[in-house]
Order: sequence, then C-alpha cells, then structure tokens
Amino acid sequence: MDWHGRGLQCRRGAVSAGGREAWAVSQLMQTASCERGRGGAGPGEPLCAAAAAMEAAVLSGLVLALALALPSVALENGLARTPPMGWMSWERFRCNVDCQADPRNCISEQLFFEMADRLAEDGWRELGYEYINLDDCWAAKQRDAAGQLVPDPKRFPRGIKALADYVHARGLKLGIYGDLGIFTCGGYPGTMLENVKQDAQTFAAWGVDMLKLDGCYSSAEEQAKGYPEMARALNATGRPIVYSCSWPAYQGGLPPKVNYTILAEICNLWRNYDDIEDSWDSVLSIVDWFFTNQDVLQPAAGPGHWNDPDMLIIGNFGLSYEQSRSQMALWTVMAAPLLMSTDLRTISPGAKEILQNRLMIQINQDPLGIQGRRIVKEKYDIEVFVRPLAQAASALVFFSRRTDMPFRYTTSLAKLHFPEDAVYEVQDVYVGKIIGDLKAADNFSVVINPSGVVMWYLRRTALPVQPWHVVRQQAPGGGYRPALL
Ligand code: GLA
Repeated sequence: MDWHGRGLQCRRGAVSAGGREAWAVSQLMQTASCERGRGGAGPGEPLCAAAAAMEAAVLSGLVLALALALPSVALENGLARTPPMGWMSWERFRCNVDCQADPRNCISEQLFFEMADRLAEDGWRELGYEYINLDDCWAAKQRDAAGQLVPDPKRFPRGIKALADYVHARGLKLGIYGDLGIFTCGGYPGTMLENVKQDAQTFAAWGVDMLKLDGCYSSAEEQAKGYPEMARALNATGRPIVYSCSWPAYQGGLPPKVNYTILAEICNLWRNYDDIEDSWDSVLSIVDWFFTNQDVLQPAAGPGHWNDPDMLIIGNFGLSYEQSRSQMALWTVMAAPLLMSTDLRTISPGAKEILQNRLMIQINQDPLGIQGRRIVKEKYDIEVFVRPLAQAASALVFFSRRTDMPFRYTTSLAKLHFPEDAVYEVQDVYVGKIIGDLKAADNFSVVINPSGVVMWYLRRTALPVQPWHVVRQQAPGGGYRPALL
C-alpha cells in the first residue's frame, strides 16, 4: 500500500485478499459436481440432486447467518441507525496542501464550503447525504501551547468551529479526521493516548458530528486501549458524535486479532480493509475481500454499527459507467456507508444519477440494517447477492465480472432460495421497469453488461399457501426474522 510519502514506518496488519471462501456452502455450490456451466444457466434446466441439497443447506445457513446479524449490542450513542451518508475529501483530494498552485482543489476551508454548498443545493442533502467530512491534512503541523490540535491557519483561517457553523446552517453535519498514534498517516499531529480526552473535547467544542480515527503510527496494544478510550471520551462530551474506527484495518480485519463484538460496542462504523483508489481493480479487490470474508463480516453489521468498505469513487476517473453502477449496487447490498469522494462541483449528470438513485438509497438505508451476502458465484464469472429488507422486501444484485459482452443469465427466485410458493413484484433499480407477479418457480433472464450489474428490488405480493418459512421466523428467542425466508 502506498502511504503517500510518509517517511516513517506506517504499516497495517498483513491484509490478505486471499483466504477461504467464507460462506463455505456457496463455495460448495461452485465446486459442486452438478455442473452449472454456460448451458447450465439455461431456462428450465433442473438442478441436480446434489445442488438441491446444497441449496437447502445454503437456505438454513442463510437463516442462521441473518439471525446472527440481528443487532445484539448497541453503541451507547444511538447514532448511525442506518449507514452514514455524505462526502469525504480523501480519495479525490488527498493531501493536496498546495493552495498556491492549486487553490481550487487544495485541502482548505474553501473546498469544504463549496462542497457543503453543493450538498445543500444540488439535491444531495434531501436524499440523506448529510455528512461533510474532513480527512487528513487539515491540521497545523504542531499542537498549540495548550496541547490542543489546531487547523492549519493559512488553509483554515476561520477555524473548524466556523466551518461547523457554516455546515450546520445548511442542515448538514461535519466530520473530522484524527489518528490514534504519534502522527496521522499524512504526518500531521496524531492523538496519543494522553491526548484522547482533550481531542474528544476539542472536537465536541468545535461542533463536530463525526470522527474518523485512523491508526497509523500506533501499536496493536495502543490501539486496543485507545479506540475504546476514545469511545468513552466522545460519550463523555455529551455531544452526539458518530465514531468511525480504522482499528480493524490495522489488524488484518479478521479474528482472532479483530473482535467484531467489541467493535460493535464501541464504534458506529469501521474500516476493515485497504484504502480505495481510483480504479476498478481497487473496487474489485475490496469486493473480493468483503465477500470472501462475509461469514465474519456480515453478522457484525447492524443499526448503529457498520462495516465500511471505504469511499464511493463514482464521479472520478477510474470507473466506467457500468463499473460506477456496480460500485453503488454492491456498496448498497453491503449496507455500506455512502461516503462520496468526488468533485461535486463538476460531477457528470451520469454519475450524479447513479449516486442520487432514490430506490437505491432507500435500499441502502433500510431500517433493518441487515448486510447482504453473496449467494451465487458461478464459474463463468456471474455472481448474485441478496440483501433482506424490511417488510418482506429484498434486493438482488446480479453482477458480471466478465469482459466479453453482455451476458444473459437465467435463473429463478426459487433457485436463489426464495420461498417456492411466493409471488413477487420486481422493480429494476436502475431501469425502473416493474415486473409484476413473478412466481418463485418462474425462470427469468437478466442481461448483465461486462463489469456491470442488474439490480432488483423485490416485494412479496402473495403469501405462500403453506407458510413454513413464517413458522421458522417465530422460532424461540423472539425478535425479528427476515421474512424473505
Ligand atoms: C489512511 C486511511 C485513508 C486516509 C489516509 C489519510 O490511509 O485509510 O482513508 O484517511 O490515511 O492519510
């Protein structure tokens, strides 16, 4: 990973994109002797017995996994009941501090004023994009005489409090960046253990609404102490401050080094993995890691506590139109925070349309907050993802990793583990087209463009005659069980 010119050592735990396919059963489906090659996806082809048995196993696995996803712990602050949405400077504007050479794009209050205006005036705020988040390189190189963090006086002459006031006056919220360690990743003053309380108080006094606490230049021991300590310090300020922890990303993102139960108790969201870059390769590596490890990650998410696969790069330079649609759909199915990092002053109408898709946002912000899973990984580079939603709805994403031509994928809802006798109304999330009365047993085809998606929103319109799945939802233990199953 490129740590953008920091001279000092700054290492994350060995993060590997490899490892086991987390949902073992879905792996079984790929390697099953029941060949589902190109031809196997054809209409009406019966599943062989082995695959049918596996799908039954998948179904019960899904029930269990989704039950585990139900929030059992909640952060005391009661915030981020749905994934946070907004804008963040890092991926697009990085640590550009040369305001002489590049006044329009450097990290300065001007940039944030302008982005706040865009969020407020171009329809973003009404859709839920409410946070405007400073990332690294906002601070002066030294703390002041009282040991307090201060913004760079040239680039933020009016100070962070004035920026927060500006943002709040437009009905938005302000996020800030800190780093548990000697320095931030960009070499600015970090928050050492002895600074935790003071920095939390400073942020609260400035009127900050979210804190991203990075983890460069600190040891695993310091992180294990510091991240929970910051949670307590933020709570003690009495100001509601959403807390985003980069802790797991520095510890490889997986157990036993990462304890997702503890994380969900102290953080509202957390970066699990590598930084996103402006490329499709980067998006794919993140998607691979998150879904390879979905057994661990998916149950960790829920209202108030989210996995964060990093910013949306839609509107920048690295993604095609299809790839931009894919990032949006896959982040939504992951119940990921929607933090755009793009230039909202010059964003293209096409990118804006993707980011402002109402139905997409409604799905992302579903109140149940259940993260979706990959349920099919075909050998021929087609994947299917499902996310259960409130009121017996669900979202399906059909994703093509192919690089040849649009691919006609044929399946049925029953094959995708929907109740056999249910009937659905389907809306294509991007195209808007509605298909009425789709029975689970009906075969259907979707045409998926290379590196693109087809995304469906499904509402059940008829109850099955034999509500066997409803009975299972009322299993001892109470609480909600996704009606999808
Ligand atoms: C790390 C983080 C990024 C960004 C930079 C800033 O790399 O993961 O998201 O905050 O630091 O230096």
